[in-house]
Amino acid sequence: MRLGILGGGQLARMLALAGYPLGFRFLFLDPAPDACAFPLGEALHGAYDDLDLLAQLANDTDKLTFEFENISAAALQSLSGIALDPPLEALSIKKDRNSEKALFQELAIPTTPFRTVDGPEDLAAAVQAFGRPVVLKTRSQGYDGKGQRIVRDANDDARALRELGEHRLIAERFIPFERELSVIAVRGSDGAQAFYPISENTHDNGILVRAESRPLDPMTERACALTGRLLERLQYVGTLALEFFEYEGELLANEFAPRVHNSGHWTIEGAETSQFENHLRAVAGMPLGSTAALGAVAMRNCIGTIPDPAPLLRLEGVHAHFYGKAPRPGRKLGHITVRARSEDELAARLAKLDAQLPSFRFSC
Ligand SMILES: Nc1ncnc2c1ncn2[C@@H]1O[C@H](COP(=O)(O)OP(=O)(O)O)[C@@H](O)[C@H]1O
Ligand SMILES: [Mg+2]
Repeated sequence: MRLGILGGGQLARMLALAGYPLGFRFLFLDPAPDACAFPLGEALHGAYDDLDLLAQLANDTDKLTFEFENISAAALQSLSGIALDPPLEALSIKKDRNSEKALFQELAIPTTPFRTVDGPEDLAAAVQAFGRPVVLKTRSQGYDGKGQRIVRDANDDARALRELGEHRLIAERFIPFERELSVIAVRGSDGAQAFYPISENTHDNGILVRAESRPLDPMTERACALTGRLLERLQYVGTLALEFFEYEGELLANEFAPRVHNSGHWTIEGAETSQFENHLRAVAGMPLGSTAALGAVAMRNCIGTIPDPAPLLRLEGVHAHFYGKAPRPGRKLGHITVRARSEDELAARLAKLDAQLPSFRFSC
């Protein structure tokens, strides 16, 4: 099968790496001339809403998928008869945090209290309703904590509105959560659902820095049940992530990603079938593979700098993935997975690994 992928970043690159053993070939579309997936297939270089390029991408491939939600759903919709998975509705809903939250409400998936904000009066009303701080987010185009401000006092209000104000916004109650969790799930074209063990995630300045697989987590059943509702409602095909805050014993959905997700990168070495392979199997109409974990697993992101690989690779159970991207502060350049036979062994291995890695600060 020849798959067209909108986006040529590291997620597309890892999809390609997973797809070659199954006989897939790839055509990527990305506005960046040096997109890091380009060496792994054929490439179209240009804008996501360039209708000629989209038509070429669709004509030259058997099926389309995407690795990034900040693409144009409207442009895709205007092309007739394209074969696309995940479904366009999942993309359209995801592109606006307001419609995403409305979907959570429709499905009785508890979510962070929110209001739309189109100006200072709306922000004042949100502050009144939720108390400070509130989290102000652009309704579209945000990722890795971009397009967000925590509004702590009246001075922040005007600045945040000025900095984000070109966009329509939502304000959310700030949740002093106990933990952040995510479910990586996959639904096949035959409706089969599968769930990976949930991940416990740590962010710094809105960017994921570490994920730990939690196969025995007490929140598993609830988190997977909520994610299953989303898969069914969207008649979803492919891999999807749902992020949660755990707060006062309940799960609050934060956002979903209609694609493979950074908190599932540990599945490459840490699960029977990776999230990337299962996404490809789903969109190609193949049976899904087992999502069972292969022991205890954790992942560390390499942000801003690439660590020296030699000392890392001497450690047992460690696998490094570097994406071939130019270093830049705050940029995801790679990730490290560590796997062990038990939680104790994993903790010992992680202690050694973390001692070798630069501190995972946004500024590194
Ligand atoms: N309402 C909130 N309360 C507390 N922390 C939040 C809230 N919203 C976002 N965050 C923090 O910021 C991170 C990034 O926000 P998120 O909404 O997931 O946007 P992105 O699309 O950038 O991932 C979250 O993982 C969480 O750590
Ligand atoms: Mg997020």
